[in-house]
Amino acid sequence: MKIPDPTTLVVFAWLADRYIPAGKLRVFGRQAEFWYGDHFRQYGYALDPIKLPLTSEVFTAEGLQGDLGVLGDALPDSWGRYLIKRQYHQSLSDLQILSLDASRQRMGGLFFSCELDDSPVDNTHDLKWMHQFSRWLTDKSNDFPERMELGSSAGGAKPKCLIQIDEIEWIVKFQPANEPVNKPAIEHGTLKLAEACGIPVPDNRLIDLPDKRQALLVKRFDRDRKKPLHYMSGQTLCGVLFNDAGQVINDTRSYLILADALSKMSTAPQTDRVDLFRRIVFNILVNNHDDHAKNHGVVRSLDGKWRLSKAFDLVAGEGGSRDLAMIIGPEGGQATFNNLLQSVDSFGLSRREAIDEIMAMVENIQNWKQLFLASGVSKNTINEIAWAIQASIDVSGL
Ligand SMILES: Nc1ncnc2c1ncn2[C@@H]1O[C@H](COP(=O)(O)OP(=O)(O)OP(=O)(O)O)[C@@H](O)[C@H]1O
Ligand SMILES: [Mg+2]
Repeated sequence: MKIPDPTTLVVFAWLADRYIPAGKLRVFGRQAEFWYGDHFRQYGYALDPIKLPLTSEVFTAEGLQGDLGVLGDALPDSWGRYLIKRQYHQSLSDLQILSLDASRQRMGGLFFSCELDDSPVDNTHDLKWMHQFSRWLTDKSNDFPERMELGSSAGGAKPKCLIQIDEIEWIVKFQPANEPVNKPAIEHGTLKLAEACGIPVPDNRLIDLPDKRQALLVKRFDRDRKKPLHYMSGQTLCGVLFNDAGQVINDTRSYLILADALSKMSTAPQTDRVDLFRRIVFNILVNNHDDHAKNHGVVRSLDGKWRLSKAFDLVAGEGGSRDLAMIIGPEGGQATFNNLLQSVDSFGLSRREAIDEIMAMVENIQNWKQLFLASGVSKNTINEIAWAIQASIDVSGL
């Protein structure tokens, strides 16, 4: 299939009640440039208030990272790239990928096109479509489900799709192939536990699939009654850079840098910094070490307020490393409260307040088993994950 190979795209952003051209993105070789259009500069908003202020400047970066990371956030991660490979049997440029997903379902509040006069297609999927998709997941020799969006903007590595039920948009997360443990159930239990610990999480529910597996429905926080909300990842906020091989070349994957960015751009900086601190405490307590920079982000409300997004992708026992995925203190990502307590200033907390937060959360996770059971997680799955949840940790010496 011949796919257009543009060097320049129009970047559309949702404003008031429609997508309007915000600026242009040009990529040549490793270089990328973005500049705002005059109209958007006058009536729109900064797509990244820290790195892309509303000026007439031409912003440049190596690819869609660094200063242009908010545009790179609109690209898929490994799951979406896998789907693209299955659909097109060829590797595509970033601009090709961005222009392929021209659906109203696409993540965040941006949309990309070669044309100045364009709008996304309304091809939302429903539960029936999702069942077809889940059948394809278990037997990929079948054809792709009909009306599969071209490309996929939904990030992350696990199998997923986007659907709408009763006018509400959801991400559906499936159990990865060859995964013996019921990950959707563990994620559901972990999100319920986080909520019980005072961490805001999206509405989420477990559903049974025809093949006896379960999937997790997570309500999208990048929508306000179907209107798209602009989103920026923690990776962009931290200014993470990659080399050609996809390896990180600067160590800015840090909760402390994230907290600093929240101080600058959140409309409730103190609430958001404490919320971020709680997420670290929670991740330590449930051994979620997959808390990488793309598993955090900020959302811009329709009235222009940037806030830390609700917490997502919280999975007890997840991640291969013994450390957290981002720096929390002088010992890097070492998942200990002693490490974290040396950075309390970054979160606007005194040491005493931070210790009180930790103790309250240890108290709150005591009933985790009952909570998981009440959330529909089986006893088997609970036994398999019990090692990860540190309910008996001794924090009296902090
Ligand atoms: N409830 C939500 N609303 C809006 N966007 C979301 C939501 N949950 C996740 N996302 C976005 O979708 C991306 C993928 O979701 P998620 O992190 O849950 O998938 P994953 O495959 O488990 O990721 P990973 O590769 O980190 O394990 C996130 O990085 C985030 O940008
Ligand atoms: Mg993720």
